[in-house]
Amino acid sequence: MNPKKQTINLFPPVFYVLLLLLLLLCFQLSEATKDSSKGHQIKLQNHRLGSSVIFPVSGNVYPLGYYYVLLNIGNPPKLFDLDIDTGSDLTWVQCDAPCNGCSKPRDSQYKPNHNTLPCSHLLCSGLDLPQSKHCDDPDDQCDYEIGYSDHASSVGALVSDEFPLRLENGSTMRPHLTFGCGYDQQNPGPHPPPPTAGILGLGRGKVSISSQLSSLGVTKNVIVHCLSHNGKGFLSIGDELVPSSGVTWTSLSLKPPSKNYKTGPAELLFNDKTTGVKGINFIFDSGSSYTYFNAEAYQAVLDLVRKDLKGKPLTETKEDKSLPVCWKDKKPLKSVHDVKKYFKTITLRFGGSQKNGQLFQIPPESYLIITEKGNVCLGILNGTEIGLDDYNIIGDISFQGIMVIYDNEKQRIGWIPSDCDKLPNVGQDNGGDLSEEEAYPRGFGLIGELFSGTDASKYNKDGEL
Ligand SMILES: *[C@@H]1O[C@H](CO)[C@@H](O)[C@H](O)[C@H]1NC(C)=O
Ligand SMILES: *[C@@H]1O[C@H](CO)[C@@H](O)[C@H](O)[C@H]1NC(C)=O
Repeated sequence: MNPKKQTINLFPPVFYVLLLLLLLLCFQLSEATKDSSKGHQIKLQNHRLGSSVIFPVSGNVYPLGYYYVLLNIGNPPKLFDLDIDTGSDLTWVQCDAPCNGCSKPRDSQYKPNHNTLPCSHLLCSGLDLPQSKHCDDPDDQCDYEIGYSDHASSVGALVSDEFPLRLENGSTMRPHLTFGCGYDQQNPGPHPPPPTAGILGLGRGKVSISSQLSSLGVTKNVIVHCLSHNGKGFLSIGDELVPSSGVTWTSLSLKPPSKNYKTGPAELLFNDKTTGVKGINFIFDSGSSYTYFNAEAYQAVLDLVRKDLKGKPLTETKEDKSLPVCWKDKKPLKSVHDVKKYFKTITLRFGGSQKNGQLFQIPPESYLIITEKGNVCLGILNGTEIGLDDYNIIGDISFQGIMVIYDNEKQRIGWIPSDCDKLPNVGQDNGGDLSEEEAYPRGFGLIGELFSGTDASKYNKDGEL
């Protein structure tokens, strides 16, 4: 084709589109004026396209080992407690198919209703499973098999169902989302199976809940979590909670495999001084209870902490089996605040070796655990020992007291110190009438019942890698 002719042909349509846009703009402006005259000024100030959904979070690093949200699925809706995991994509719930290795009674499992996804579906082929399953007949159900780095696994089929959600702008929606109905769970490790109904996958892949909500135009593909030191917090999908200033941002690695929220490289500082450990990459993973450093960084931290404790009242103990490195005082300890004066802040400096790099600070209360025996233990673990190779993971323990923002729109990750005990002040843009009960999903009060009698104290789960 003649390119010149093409340009000429293109002109008239562009002209008409511009004219149409101009007309539309005029119409919108006049509508907006009408709105404001009726007292709807708020909408004019709110230029956002999408909205956010906010969930209260419960859980802790120790003894539970996870943080979870309550989510309604289906019609009629059923409430499921799901472990929030930014380290994997697929959301799954225990499935009454019937189920192998489920920790929930049958009436608390998800019951599929002829709603399996065919294996020809885009989300099935996009699952990125290690051994991709064969799709012989395009109408076959889409089977999945997912393994996590703590060797737990789930096998099931993909289904699609309604997720009743209350958005921050006051609307309720019932998007159909894809998730796994997991009918065979294995937990070969030393820990009992998790008492939660499943996993809420918030990774970077297409099948993650945030990616699905964003491709449906419901929310932006942004995830915010804020985990408190007191077992509370909140999770949000969408960008309304992202503060407009004060956030430290660092870019996400785009190099494949870029499935995870991987940043780096970072330099390790101890008490604001260089340690000589640099060039280490980190994965931000809310599905991991603890923080994992590679053997070199781990050794460095261990040496520096031990050196600092010389001449202090704490002595190393092997009596406590909760974690590998622990110390005891003369009396059992009650709180990290009793001993934090003996420990220094660990800092990760992102952005290469530049002096103006982005600092991620890990104060003692974000890397220490007080165990049931009253000892203080290091909550940074040796990642090389569990086969993470050169990956380093920042887990829940180091996320406490900060808002962490996974921005898939701009391929960056950010953090800012926050009071995670308080739900954010949402709803004010809508007249401030979003009461606490509305902000919380119904049945939130059920948590106490859901967990009574379940001993999850030994359980801790790492995100899938
Ligand atoms: C709230 O946001 C959703 C999703 O973006 C949109 O469909 C809905 O119309 C909005 N509701 C209001 C009241 O603005
Ligand atoms: C960390 O794990 C690796 C691999 O098992 C081991 O060689 C190394 O000695 C460990 N480091 C420490 C300080 O325990």
